[in-house]
Amino acid sequence: MKKDLLSIHDLKNEEIHYLLKEAVRLKADRHGGSSILKDKTVALIFQKPSNRTRVSFEVGIHQLGGKCLYLGPGEINLGKRESTSDVAATLSRYLDGIVARTFKHDDIVELSRTASIPIINGLSDLYHPCQALADLMSIQEKFSELQGLKLAYIGDGNNVCHSLILGCAKVGMNVSVATPPGYEPDSGILAMAQNESRQFNASVTLTHCPQEAAQGAHVIYTDVWTSMGQEEEHAARLKIFHDFQVNTALISKAHDHCVFMHCLPAHRGEEVTAEVIDGPRSIVFDQAENRLHIQKAILLFIFS
Ligand code: CP
Ligand code: NVA
Repeated sequence: MKKDLLSIHDLKNEEIHYLLKEAVRLKADRHGGSSILKDKTVALIFQKPSNRTRVSFEVGIHQLGGKCLYLGPGEINLGKRESTSDVAATLSRYLDGIVARTFKHDDIVELSRTASIPIINGLSDLYHPCQALADLMSIQEKFSELQGLKLAYIGDGNNVCHSLILGCAKVGMNVSVATPPGYEPDSGILAMAQNESRQFNASVTLTHCPQEAAQGAHVIYTDVWTSMGQEEEHAARLKIFHDFQVNTALISKAHDHCVFMHCLPAHRGEEVTAEVIDGPRSIVFDQAENRLHIQKAILLFIFS
C-alpha cells in the first residue's frame, strides 16, 4: 500500500511524534543518514508560487539521494489540458512520488485516488499539512512539551489555520482561534479538531476577539489576510481584518515566554507589525528552516 499525506488528519498522534523525532534527528545530522531516494524521482506539481515548500522539498529530496522535477504553474495544467486522473496515471509510470500544490483540495484527493505512487499535499485551498508539522517541531524546540500549551491563531480561518488546529489538537494543545465574523475555519474541520482535543482534556475554541484568544497564549500565530487565489479580495480584506493585526499590544496579553509564529510569506504592516516579526519573540525563520527537516522526515516515512 502506498502512503500519502493529504491532511494532518491522516496521521495518528504517535505518527506525528515519530515525524517530529525524526526531523530533530535529521536536523542534527543534516547530511548524514539515508539515501532512501537513490534512483527515485519525485515531481513537484505546483499551480501556485512557492519559496519554502519548493526549495525545502528540492533540497530535501537531493539530500536523500533522489532527483526532483519541478513542474510549475502552466506546465501540467491539472484538469485543464487533460483530466487529473489521466495526469496521475501517466505520471505514475515515470515517477516515484508527487508533491502537489493546488487551488482545489479535490485535485489532490483525485491525484491520490488515481495515482499508484505517493502524493504529498504541498498546500491546497483547504490544508497545509507539511507546514503544520514544521510548526509543531518549532514549538517543541522552544517549549519541549507540546501537550497543555496554548496557541492563539489570529486572522483568517484558512488552509494554514485548518492544518494547525488539527495538528495542535492531535498532540493535546489548546487552541483559540480569533477571526472576523464570516472568516472562521471550516466547521467540519473545526469539529474534527475539537473531537481530537477532547481525549487530552484540551480545547479548540473560536472567538471574534483577538485579545481574548491571545490571553496567556504560549504561541501567537498568524498568516496572510489574503491567500493565493484571493487577490481580488485584497482591498476588502484589509478593512475586514484591520483589528486582527498582531502587534506589541496584542503580544502583551500573551504568556511572558510567548513566541510569535508565521508560516511566511508575511506582509509587515498588515497581519503583523515589523516590530513583532523582527523582534525577539519571533521564531519565523526557525519555522522556515524546520520545513526542510520535516520534509525529509515525511519523505523517509512515506518511502521506507
Ligand atoms: N510557508 C510556505 O508554504 O511558504 P511558500 O508558499 O513560500 O512555500
Ligand atoms: N494561506 C497562505 C499560505 C501561504 C504559505 C496561502 O494559501 O496563500
